[in-house]
Amino acid sequence: MNVLAIESSCDESSVAVVRDGRIVSLRTVTQSVHREFGGVVPELAGRSHLQLVDRLTHEASVEAGVSLEQIDVVAATSGPGLIGSLLVGTNYARGLAFALGKPFRSVHHLEAHLWSAEIEYGELPLPFLVLLVSGGHTLIIQVEALRRYTILGTTVDDALGEAYDKVGKLFGLGFPAGAEVDRLAAQGNPRRFVLTPPKMDDSLDLSFSGLKTAVLYCVRDIGPDRADTQASDVLAAFQEAALASVSSKLRRAAQSTSPRAIVAAGGVAANTRLRQLLTALGQDLAIPCVFPPLRYCMDNAAMIGHLAAKLEQAGIKDPPAPARPRWPLAELSAENRPA
Ligand code: KG4
Ligand code: ZN
Repeated sequence: MNVLAIESSCDESSVAVVRDGRIVSLRTVTQSVHREFGGVVPELAGRSHLQLVDRLTHEASVEAGVSLEQIDVVAATSGPGLIGSLLVGTNYARGLAFALGKPFRSVHHLEAHLWSAEIEYGELPLPFLVLLVSGGHTLIIQVEALRRYTILGTTVDDALGEAYDKVGKLFGLGFPAGAEVDRLAAQGNPRRFVLTPPKMDDSLDLSFSGLKTAVLYCVRDIGPDRADTQASDVLAAFQEAALASVSSKLRRAAQSTSPRAIVAAGGVAANTRLRQLLTALGQDLAIPCVFPPLRYCMDNAAMIGHLAAKLEQAGIKDPPAPARPRWPLAELSAENRPA
């Protein structure tokens, strides 16, 4: 079975072909048009998807050695995400499916992230925990089975990647700033500045906006000139405080749910320090911790195609969803579960 999958929920335009559960092509473009604005501009994201989707579909099918007529299912992310962007991918996919006389499958973006580690590692033992950290999401989710998900914790304000991007902006770093903050923080002394750590309450929810404000005050106190020379130390203090709260909540989530694996997903999962902390956590709790390669961690169509194929195989027939900017994961779990 050949699945052609399209991802267009935010600022990555991506198309993949999955054959019999194996990724045979993946073309992902991270839109550069947003850089000068310091954040994703929804209108520009939609237009870029429009410019890219046809070309990427062609390239992905050539790379896979599959003609469009040989596609059995066309899948696309239908939500959650930016409405203009979702409409481009979803309607392109629906039109293609109609023209080919093949079924169209709507895919929930977050559900696709949950299963993305399987692309690299094969089936994971259930239950497992997923830490999904990106520019738009910060979630700790328990996966008990296909369509059995429990959100254990989420951010009450900024997403973790968003906090990295905003703090990077304070130091004049380009957008997105996460990778550069990661690099600079590694050279800094995390103990030189004391930043108020995120609030630690009993819930598994996270919060980063207070920490971001603490960085702002710290930069103000030391003055812009000295802030430049001390950037690495401030960024190291920020990173240490932010990731300590993530890893402590994840530890508690793992202690209360006894997962058989922990998966890190989303663009921030590329972070060096986060990987160190989670690896140490996994060793401490004797739970394997997996980090899918970045091409499957960031927003990509391979995970969309992988989940579409998995749902086909499980015989789960979802009604095609229109583009849905808001689409709670909980709705999926309640809707359509395998027997
Ligand atoms: O999943 P992703 O590629 O896409 C969206 O969120 O749309 O994640 C992008 C986010 C950005 O906020 C970026 O700054 C952050 O991931 N990021 C990182 C690193 N690499 C990317 N954050 C911290 N450390 C990194 N090495
Ligand atoms: Zn995502």
